[in-house]
Amino acid sequence: MAEELKIASGTKEEKYRLLLEQVVALTADESDDIANMANVSAMIQETFGFWWTGFYRVQEETLVLGPFQGPLACTRIAYGRGVCGSAWKEQRTLVVPDVELFPGHIACSSASRSEIVVPVWRAGRILAVLDIDSEHLATFDETDRLWLERLVAVFDR
Ligand code: SME
Repeated sequence: MAEELKIASGTKEEKYRLLLEQVVALTADESDDIANMANVSAMIQETFGFWWTGFYRVQEETLVLGPFQGPLACTRIAYGRGVCGSAWKEQRTLVVPDVELFPGHIACSSASRSEIVVPVWRAGRILAVLDIDSEHLATFDETDRLWLERLVAVFDR
């Protein structure tokens, strides 16, 4: 694949569809998770222009900051803490329309208003979480959940 991202001009769904195709193609022949997480966060960010897109990797009892795009972020998040730690503990995607209403939200950046956190699975265990922050309220919905879960499924191999 050429190292240039194509971005669909239509709906959010069309953007995700083309993004997924390219993520699958780009990660297929690369086994290194960090390299793939780096490109996946760049590709999501380039497609949608969110405030912050990145991965936190599970390291024993903590999430540790991995590849990301955007402003600097907290490096460690405990199990069950914040949106990221809660998604890890509850083993499901969390869509948060207003971070100020989420008990225990960790404000890495005061600009962040809404958030989605998607667990990244491998062989029945959570390897990492994908965290995306928006500077607008209620940016993420079921369409984002569905497509981001499909996107991170490239790591389940
Ligand atoms: N807000 C997240 C922390 C990570 S950053 O926003 C990049 C949380 O509550 O888990």
